[in-house]
Amino acid sequence: MPNKPEPCILCIFGATGDLAHRKILPALFEMSNAGELPEQTIILGIGRNKNKSDIAFRHDVLESIQKSGASDVDAITTWCEARIFYQGIAKGTQDEFKKLRAKIVNLEKKRTLKGNRIFHLAIPPVGFGPTVKSLGGAGLNASDGWTRLVIEKPFGRDYKSALELNNLITQFFTEDQIYRIDHYLGKETVQNILAFRFGNALFESVWNREKIEKVEIVVAESLGIESRADYYEKSGALRDMVQNHLTQLLTLAAMEIPLAFKAEDLRFEKVKVLRSISPIRAEDVILGQYTEGELGGNGVRGYRQEDGVRSDSKTPTFVALKMRVENWRWHGVPFYLTTGKRLKEQKSEIIITFRVPPVALFKSSDGREAHSNVLIIALQPNEGFRISFQVKKPGSEIAVQSEWMHFSYNEAFGPMPDAYYTLLRDVMLGDQSLFVSADETLASWKLYTPVLNAHRSLHNYPAGSWGPKEAEALKG
Ligand code: BG6
Repeated sequence: MPNKPEPCILCIFGATGDLAHRKILPALFEMSNAGELPEQTIILGIGRNKNKSDIAFRHDVLESIQKSGASDVDAITTWCEARIFYQGIAKGTQDEFKKLRAKIVNLEKKRTLKGNRIFHLAIPPVGFGPTVKSLGGAGLNASDGWTRLVIEKPFGRDYKSALELNNLITQFFTEDQIYRIDHYLGKETVQNILAFRFGNALFESVWNREKIEKVEIVVAESLGIESRADYYEKSGALRDMVQNHLTQLLTLAAMEIPLAFKAEDLRFEKVKVLRSISPIRAEDVILGQYTEGELGGNGVRGYRQEDGVRSDSKTPTFVALKMRVENWRWHGVPFYLTTGKRLKEQKSEIIITFRVPPVALFKSSDGREAHSNVLIIALQPNEGFRISFQVKKPGSEIAVQSEWMHFSYNEAFGPMPDAYYTLLRDVMLGDQSLFVSADETLASWKLYTPVLNAHRSLHNYPAGSWGPKEAEALKG
């Protein structure tokens, strides 16, 4: 695998949208500053507005890059002039795609590019199928170099639609051309789950049902739905977070050691985990929706009062699930997945609780006999690990107390790259390790589709709390 990308043209569909401006374009600018974007590489933004010029688009890009924190206006302007172009596609007609092809070929000639192309679909999911069809129809699914297709989530909204979408895409692109994004996989801390597990014999030797009592995966958000009511009303927490981000975390925490840190080996092991999860029982699912409450001292609206949300909406903004991974390593160890919007704090953690010692020799000062060691992998914020252990409290009495040992990414390495930086670089390098395969996506939808279809009751929780109290009962 080369470690410097080859020059290419990156075509971003949805180039005037929020994702392109908040994440994709700033990440490309940063890559360029870090010397990781070859001089010849260019970015072609594609949006619905047919009247926008290259110059107008560059102006928007400049603003977004400034907003992301870069301050050297001259450097950003020069970068935009050299790299950024725009093409409008209003209706997605064949003719428009022919024009797109002509523009690409023309730019490639000017830059002496050899036909390496990336099509990044940063558009609402209804546009995935038609765009892929049109790309194929215009012969843009293959070129003299390589052609890669990047697809944002959500990939389908249940098993059937994911299968249909996949069947459609694979009429035009092969699996090794397709990069399905789950941006959690681009986070350093998420990749580090594997380095931590498989690079440290100490932990791997206790990573099993003999030593672990339970695994909790929590992605709590204090944010609400921002201005995304339209999307979120059709999605809800299970589709938005659980089927993808939390499930990816689960597979990384539970998988067997892969043969190598390569896409096909990693994907193979992740799919095995998904296939070994037992059907999720109705009583193991708690859905919730936030009502009015208080966060950080400010009053916040309930979900049903958010702009664009129906006043009788049944969309869950919280999910807690208990899952069983029925394989040799994990039999009998419950996995709890929890996520929600407008919770008390923003934090994403994997919490591993180890079994208590078989004999309790020591009592703690609070009178409890048995204590577990707990390992917390903090994915964000305060990225790092904490592990609790028992120490003797000084004094004549033999009593133990839990204390924490910690590692902080920020203290050790300073700020970390944004997930999109990592993912875009990997697409350019042709490395699919951090992307989701068709098998994974389908296995995951297979697991959650019955839950989506079956479960109806919704528990309220006030914004600023940790979710409905019923969720606590899941853990027994
Ligand atoms: C997105 C979801 O995929 O992930 C959002 O659509 C969510 O609803 C976001 O807020 C969380 O990502 P992060 O990186 O902020 O944890």
